[in-house]
Amino acid sequence: MDYISIKGNAKLSGSVKVSGAKNSALPLITSTILSKGLVNISNIPNVVDIKTLLKLLRNLGAEFEFNDNLLKISTENIHHTKANYDIIKTMRASILVLGPLLARFRHCEVSLPGGCAIGERPVDLHIKALCKMGANIDIKNGYIVAEAKHGLKASEIIFDKVTVTGSENIIMAASLAKGKSKIINSAKEPEVVQLCEVLHDAGVDITGIGTDEINIYGTDGELPEFKDISVIPDRIEAGTYLCAGAITNSNITLEKVVPAHLNAMILKLKEMGFDFKESDNSLEILPANKISPIEIVTAEYPAFPTDMQAQFMALATQSEGTSIIEERLFENRFMHASELRRLRADIKTSGRFATINGKNSLVGADVMATDLRASSALVLAALVADGVTNVHRIYHLDRGYENLEAKLTNLGAKIERLKA
Ligand code: UD1
Repeated sequence: MDYISIKGNAKLSGSVKVSGAKNSALPLITSTILSKGLVNISNIPNVVDIKTLLKLLRNLGAEFEFNDNLLKISTENIHHTKANYDIIKTMRASILVLGPLLARFRHCEVSLPGGCAIGERPVDLHIKALCKMGANIDIKNGYIVAEAKHGLKASEIIFDKVTVTGSENIIMAASLAKGKSKIINSAKEPEVVQLCEVLHDAGVDITGIGTDEINIYGTDGELPEFKDISVIPDRIEAGTYLCAGAITNSNITLEKVVPAHLNAMILKLKEMGFDFKESDNSLEILPANKISPIEIVTAEYPAFPTDMQAQFMALATQSEGTSIIEERLFENRFMHASELRRLRADIKTSGRFATINGKNSLVGADVMATDLRASSALVLAALVADGVTNVHRIYHLDRGYENLEAKLTNLGAKIERLKA
């Protein structure tokens, strides 16, 4: 099995092009189930999660070409509405087919995703909202069996918790429903905003985009015709490279980013002593005189993202003092802490809290990736560890980081992919 080997203590410099956002590309791809004709989506990252979703869509009968980050997809000939366990179990986000399949075909069977490494992660809110829209839903043999014989009807949905893929599923479902739906307490992540904008550009009347209250005037089953789409830059990949600059205290520039989407991370990095030069779509991080400790609470956008928690934990090991991280979204998202301890980080966890005592000289070791973002935290720590760190189980990294080794090598890191 592949692993990544990193020789620590290299200074980084230069610039890195940020890829398209995986978490935007995923709902955009499933939203094409709602579209008439061929849809072109550019700037799709070539990562395993995208290939997994495309495999699922191919099984359903979609036809596509995916080359050079450009996807040309037609869902016209979908003849199958069962999303099998084999694929859903490998990627939770495949649940994003539920809303559009049900809206267009009025029935579907989608495997329950089950738990995952970072916590239980139920989909009860997706199901509850679709029932409110008139769907009959049974859970049979581990499958969500959904039917809306006369089509979904518009409804007022209030989410008890802010859910990103839950909001996206219901936005897609409501787009084909009859009448006006209102989603209260919707997620406001940039990826949700892009999905709304794409549907809006295709002629679906949506107001309140970017707020937590979205109104959608459904087309009553008529399929809209999508315009060409370009996926927004990946704010989590961008944040990870900012942390690579910060942990090595180097000067690096991110290209093709939307700095506004990185605001929470930039503010925390400023509190730690780093400075920035910003232009329309590039962002340069400047070294700190002294890296100060930090307090972080993860929450929904625009607050600090849970998907950056692990990377900031790695960074906090290099700050002068004690940092505290509170993880509010997922109950089991500190598995990287024990792996970071193998590199001699001083980290204690208790429930939702992690305490990181810096500054620690990290020392290379063999470590194991436990989930996507945890893997990138280990790579970041390895950049400043003495000696060599081997990161195993990197299939987690491949799910969401495009050309990671090439991008880091370009910045001056000593990193290679090897076979065990
Ligand atoms: C998305 C992101 C993921 C990110 C997460 C939180 C994608 C493909 N993935 O995941 O990278 O870490 O948002 O920003 O966009 N919940 C319920 N019931 C539900 C749905 C969610 O209780 O039906 C809970 C979850 O357990 C969690 C919280 O709500 O505690 C937020 O989860 P959610 O926003 O749904 O995460 P995902 O959409 O799966």
